[in-house]
Amino acid sequence: MILNALEKVKAAVTKTLRDRVQAVLDASVKNDVNVVNENLALAKSELAAALGVSRPTLNAAMDELTASGELEGIIQKGNRYLLDLEHCHLIADHMKIKSWNDSVGSKHIIVDVNMKGGTGKSTVSVNMAAGLSYGMTERKRCLLIDLDPQGSDRNFSQPDMEKSKDILTAVDLMLADYEKDEDYNDYHKYVERVGHKALVKMSCQPTQYPNMDILASFPLDDRFNQFVFEHFKDDYMSAMSLLKERVIDQVIDDYDLIFIDCPPSMGPIVWSALEAATGIIVPVTPKNLDWMATVTFFQQLPKRLAQLPSKGKNLQWFKILLNNVDQEHSRDSVMVSEIQNAVGAENMFLRVIDRSTAFEVASQNFRTVIDIRPKDDLVNPKQLSNAKDCINNVCRELVSILKSHPGV
Ligand SMILES: Nc1ncnc2c1ncn2[C@@H]1O[C@H](COP(=O)(O)OP(=O)(O)O)[C@@H](O)[C@H]1O
Ligand SMILES: [Mg+2]
Repeated sequence: MILNALEKVKAAVTKTLRDRVQAVLDASVKNDVNVVNENLALAKSELAAALGVSRPTLNAAMDELTASGELEGIIQKGNRYLLDLEHCHLIADHMKIKSWNDSVGSKHIIVDVNMKGGTGKSTVSVNMAAGLSYGMTERKRCLLIDLDPQGSDRNFSQPDMEKSKDILTAVDLMLADYEKDEDYNDYHKYVERVGHKALVKMSCQPTQYPNMDILASFPLDDRFNQFVFEHFKDDYMSAMSLLKERVIDQVIDDYDLIFIDCPPSMGPIVWSALEAATGIIVPVTPKNLDWMATVTFFQQLPKRLAQLPSKGKNLQWFKILLNNVDQEHSRDSVMVSEIQNAVGAENMFLRVIDRSTAFEVASQNFRTVIDIRPKDDLVNPKQLSNAKDCINNVCRELVSILKSHPGV
């Protein structure tokens, strides 16, 4: 029954919110879906290695899935077969290979935050979520929530008009109960029929990774901070639970890792993210001005956390992640050691993300460094492989940080 209702809602919202969907589509026409899918596809030998099974075992599973008609459309390149990510997940599920959810089971809400703009919050969020989703070993299910009204993260999702969902933002979902008479979106037209939870789920857009979704943002989300100060007046900290309760708790069963990309500011929307966080990553570019802004952020942080409804007790770890590090001639080394001495090496990722043109090229092409290959001829292969290595190393380090904390 719910499915029928959802189908109707889908048709209706797809029509009424076409402008939002169109905004995402306009961005993604530049992004050839087939090229991306092929870049992410694995050869049989790669999949067997990633799943830790032998080739005959993999072949047997594939034969079963082919016989039942579930496995079709395998890409053939000469005498090589390529399995796209949908195939890879189908096969892994069929073989009952343990996922993160089966073996580790913890859930983590990781907030990328820094008051300074341009330090790489969005770059780090998008590329790390992609890097972690791509790994077939534990098949982590990731959600990226964009809280920056500039909404750059939505360019990485792959809206499919067939499957298309309403594009409600985290802010739309957080404020819905208070905006019954406004027409920011069609939330109230549908909520009585399908319920709040279903609307949250529908708003998480698919990406090129079958196990990664994005909850997009749009410029109207800018209203949140003002709304909180006006509507909640004396007790505005009570509004800080909205992100957790109205958005994250609604979909937490569907994901293992939830990344939250914050705007470069310190106001209610960012405090809401801190209230929900189990861990925070502070991307810092090792340049004097960036570091000064980060120092201000750390000066404000303890007081802000203490004022939150949870008093910051849900927070289990924080780490500075050096990004955009210029390795050439050790240009940034003085600043790097100054930062290490100030915050303590234990509060920093050991790995750093180097400066690489691949990050800029990737975002200009609505891609991540994970889904670009040298053959795309978009960026110098050395820059690309360095960027991929940096992301993969930082992802590995994050996994070990997560495994040493309980999460939720
Ligand atoms: N490691 C890096 N190497 C090169 N360019 C980078 C790197 N990290 C970020 N950038 C570029 O810096 C700019 C700002 O990054 P962004 O992630 O949007 O920052 P924020 O979200 O903190 O404002 C973007 O143009 C991005 O492509
Ligand atoms: Mg950003």
